[in-house]
Amino acid sequence: MSRPPLNRALAGMGTTIFAEMSDLAARTGAVNLGQGFPDTDGPAEVSEAAVAAIRAGRGNQYPPGPGVPELRRAIADHQKRFYDLAVDPDTQVLVTAGATEAIAAAMLALVEPGDEVIAFEPYYDSYAACVAMAGGTRVPVTLRPPSFRPDLAALAAAITPRTRAILLNTPHNPTGAVFTGAELARIARLAIEHDLLVISDEVYEHIIFTGPHVPIGSLPGMAERTVSISSAAKTFSFTGWKIGWVTGSAELVAAVRTAKQFLTYVSGGPFQYAIAEGLALPDSYYAHLPADLRVKRDLMCEGLARAGSGVYQPDGTYFITADITPLGESDGMDFCRRLPALAGVVAVPSVVFYDNRDAGRSQVRFAFCKKEEVLREALTRLTRLGSR
Ligand SMILES: Cc1ncc(COP(=O)(O)O)c(C=O)c1O
Repeated sequence: MSRPPLNRALAGMGTTIFAEMSDLAARTGAVNLGQGFPDTDGPAEVSEAAVAAIRAGRGNQYPPGPGVPELRRAIADHQKRFYDLAVDPDTQVLVTAGATEAIAAAMLALVEPGDEVIAFEPYYDSYAACVAMAGGTRVPVTLRPPSFRPDLAALAAAITPRTRAILLNTPHNPTGAVFTGAELARIARLAIEHDLLVISDEVYEHIIFTGPHVPIGSLPGMAERTVSISSAAKTFSFTGWKIGWVTGSAELVAAVRTAKQFLTYVSGGPFQYAIAEGLALPDSYYAHLPADLRVKRDLMCEGLARAGSGVYQPDGTYFITADITPLGESDGMDFCRRLPALAGVVAVPSVVFYDNRDAGRSQVRFAFCKKEEVLREALTRLTRLGSR
C-alpha cells in the first residue's frame, strides 16, 4: 500500500494512554490508578432496574433515536431540580452512547473544515481526535499549576474570525479545577461578543468539593449557544453502560442528533430505563458521592505529599495531579512507564493531554475513585519512591 491506512487527521493518535496504562497494570499486577473508572459498581437499585428492564423486554430492541421518553424526561427533571433549567424532553434532550459520543456528534454536527475550536489544555483525549475528525483545528489555551485557573486574557487572544466554538470542561479532567461563576461569566461574555458556540462537558457535575456546579448554559444569553454534555458514567459509577446525554436549544440538539444517528443510531436500551431511575435518586445520594470522594481526595493529597511528590489539590473530579519534580524526575511519560517496577502503581502522564508538551511534562494524574484500602495500599507502595 502506498499510503498509510490511517486518516491523516488521526495520525499519531494511536492507542489511548488509558488502554496502554490499564494493560500495563494488568501485566504487572500494579495498583491501577490510571484509567478513571471506579472499582465498585453504582447503586444496587439502578443495576436492578437494568436487570428488570431486560427481563421485561424494555429497550431490548432499538429504542427511539433521541432516547427512551422515560430517560429524556428524567434528564429534563434533573436539569430543573439542580439548575432550575427548563428543557423540553422531546426537543431539547438527546441520549448518546456516553459523553464520548456526545462530544463526537457535537463536533461533527457543529464544526466544519477550517473552523477553530478552542479548548483549555490539558484536555480529555477525545477532544483532539473529535475536532480533527470534524476537520477542525484545535486551539489550546493552557491551564497552569498550581491553581490551573483559566487565563481569560489568553482565551480572548485565542479567538479569531475562524473560531467556531469553545470546548469547555468544568469540573476539569485532569486538573480537578472548577471554574468559578465569575470565570464562566467572562467566558460567556466572550462567546456572546464573538458569536461562538460553547460545548460544555459537565460529566463531573456531581463531583465537586467546593459548592454546587454552575452550567454555563444557565448564564444569561447562553441557552441558545450552549450544548451541555453529561453522562451516567461518573455520577452513577457505571462507566461500562455508556449512557450520556446532550441538552441545549432545540436547534442545537437537532443538529447533534443528525450526526449522532449515523454514529451509533441508538445504544444501551435497558440501561436507559435504569439511569432514568438513577437520576431520580434522593438528594442524599448526590450529597454522599462527593463527600465520599472528598475523604479519598484528602487521603491521596496527604499520601502523595508524604511520598515526596508535589500535589495540586483538586476542587472536583476524582483525579489528582502530582508534580514529580521533587522526586528527582522530570519526564512523566517515562516515569509512568517505570512506575509499576518502581512502586507497583500505575498512573497516567498528563503530558498526553497537552499540545504544549513542555507545560505538562512533569505532571502525573492519579485516579482516586477506588476503595479506600486500595488507595492506602497504593500510597504505601508509593512511599518507596522517597527511599530510592
Ligand atoms: C472530561 C470527560 N469527558 C467525557 C468522558 C467520557 O464519558 P463517557 O464514559 O460517558 O463516554 C470522560 C471520561 O473519563 C471525561 O473525563
